[in-house]
Amino acid sequence: MQREVGIALMKRALAIMEDQWPEMANAHMQVPLEYYNSQEIAEREREIFETSPLALVAASELSKPNDYLVRTAVGRSILLTRDSEGEAHAFLNYCRHRGAEPVQGCGNARSFSCPYHAWTYDTRGRLMGMPLGDRYEGLDRSALGLVELSSEERHGFIWVVLRPDSPIDVAAHLGDLDTEIASLGCDRMTYYNSLQEEPLALNWKGVTEGLLEGLHVPYVHAGTFALNPQAAAIDLAFYDAIGAHVRYGLPMFGPDDVARIRATPETQWDPASSIGCVWWISPGLLLAQELYGLIYADLTPGSNVSEAVFRYGWLSPTTEAPEGMASPEEMAARAAQAVSQDQPVWETCGRGLTHGAHDSTLIGRNEKGVQLLHESVARQIGYEGLRYC
Ligand code: FES
Ligand SMILES: [Fe+2]
Repeated sequence: MQREVGIALMKRALAIMEDQWPEMANAHMQVPLEYYNSQEIAEREREIFETSPLALVAASELSKPNDYLVRTAVGRSILLTRDSEGEAHAFLNYCRHRGAEPVQGCGNARSFSCPYHAWTYDTRGRLMGMPLGDRYEGLDRSALGLVELSSEERHGFIWVVLRPDSPIDVAAHLGDLDTEIASLGCDRMTYYNSLQEEPLALNWKGVTEGLLEGLHVPYVHAGTFALNPQAAAIDLAFYDAIGAHVRYGLPMFGPDDVARIRATPETQWDPASSIGCVWWISPGLLLAQELYGLIYADLTPGSNVSEAVFRYGWLSPTTEAPEGMASPEEMAARAAQAVSQDQPVWETCGRGLTHGAHDSTLIGRNEKGVQLLHESVARQIGYEGLRYC
């Protein structure tokens, strides 16, 4: 994080801890249930997911030339490759013959043979040939490659825009967060998988809500996360809307530390170890600092309005755990355990949002991160139904 940003956040963290009072929204928010259930709203959100850069994989998941990986994103099968020269690519994983998915899983290969009739493609998506090729004389094979999507490798992720022929500009998308995300050093980290595309029976915004507040942590994750034992209240946090994105930060020190930190010259402050931040990058990316690494997850709408698809993992700057800490594999396993604790509760929310007779959910003043999330999505899709009380 840039020094000035870190120092400014430290000052806010100190104020919160000193006052034992979080940064609050101006009013409570009421979110009409239609916002989670409406087909028409889901269509408008889909537009955002299809036209925004999505960080579909960590660069380390394709670390070597000819590495490949297939994942689904917003209902599509996407093939990600690193070609023999090290350049990353993304393709719609649909064969140009009759539409089968030519590639499954992940691995290292110079070419891919479609399982249906063995049309073969290279790592740049070019059609190399097919059995009985002389029967297909006259076809322009150069026009029958896999459909490539715009992609960009930046800050340790491979970002993709899912709609063909759309431009990509990740720096413009991140806006004022571009340098902050760069400073996390994800390009030097290794991905450890926790969950591979888990379907959850709750609208994607309902799941995202649960990632932007800590209020549930003592009840749902008792004993799983190392909570700040000195923070008297779980909601002591600060929040910012940064363009379409949200930063949610927590002091990692207690009230007893405030006087000592204030007595130390600012030049000696260490924001990196004194604050923990969570970033929601619109529309579905989540990065969260946790001990020596980062949670890296994405949430996308599922096959209907009451389903989300969650991919979740842990990025580690080292293969060995620092002294006294859990290994990267254990951190990833713990992240998966946390989701398994959240999931049953989230799914009750899913049923509540579908069948509830109440007309809205209530997002308190101390859930400002959730409010900023809804305000961002509402702004992007032109929804005017959010109310305040
Ligand atoms: S569908 Fe792929 S080769 Fe026929
Ligand atoms: Fe949780």
